[in-house]
Amino acid sequence: MRQRTYLMCSPAKYLVEYAINAWMDTSVPVDTQLAIKQWTVLRDAVVDLGHTVHLLAPQDGLPDMVYAANGAFSVDGVVYGARFKYAQRAAEAVRHRAFYEEQPDAWRFVPPTETNEGEGDFTYVPDGHGGLILAGYGFRTEIDAHAQAQEVLGRPVISLRLVDPRFYHLDTALASLDDGNIIYYPAAFSVSSQTVLRQLFPHAMIATEEDALAFGLNLVSDGRNVLMHTEATALAARLADAGFRPILVDLSELKKGGGSVKCCMAELRP
Ligand code: ARG
Repeated sequence: MRQRTYLMCSPAKYLVEYAINAWMDTSVPVDTQLAIKQWTVLRDAVVDLGHTVHLLAPQDGLPDMVYAANGAFSVDGVVYGARFKYAQRAAEAVRHRAFYEEQPDAWRFVPPTETNEGEGDFTYVPDGHGGLILAGYGFRTEIDAHAQAQEVLGRPVISLRLVDPRFYHLDTALASLDDGNIIYYPAAFSVSSQTVLRQLFPHAMIATEEDALAFGLNLVSDGRNVLMHTEATALAARLADAGFRPILVDLSELKKGGGSVKCCMAELRP
């Protein structure tokens, strides 16, 4: 386990007012008060594990801001900003940018010119090959942003094509488990991308469609403790067998927006 720092944003303004992914249905009611309770349990669990949580202020008119993972991607104090695909979320990037630019000694913020949704589609694997960035495209992030991230962050970026609209962000289909290994659901990726993943991570854990549909891969691991969605009980049992300590969190309300644990937490890498 390594002590980590995260950026989160309360769902105080959360609602499903538009549908930009396969999980969102504007006719299904959302309980914002329950979302706040569930999110608070997650935040408290992160703090109880000894990690640091910074907060962004929720904003009127930005109901998806709770999914803080999408706002940027940082490695070694360098921040590659987000540029959202859909107009409804565009202004979130401004809030994230301000967070980093308010601490110029800690962060060098680089604004993007290419569409990308931060840690939604970028995952950092610290020790894998000296620091490797896995990057998804196909639904949200443009592949040109992968090249830009590599220039900005100076780490090899491996482009992986997502092919199943239910798993529209990389973080719904793949997660970093510890400093060298990952877990993923193969069928979310093109056949060639599956080959790439097998080559780079021959010891990866392989998840099932059921695990992925339960948002089990939208997890946050500190190398030992794994915060994950409450429905993913089968995956939690397997992770426990593998020596991890799963912590199940009920984020039923946020799942209605197409996200769970990982979507709510941007890891800050100073
Ligand atoms: N409603 C949000 C969207 O569709 C959910 C984002 C989920 N975040 C994530 N990191 N996968 O953009």
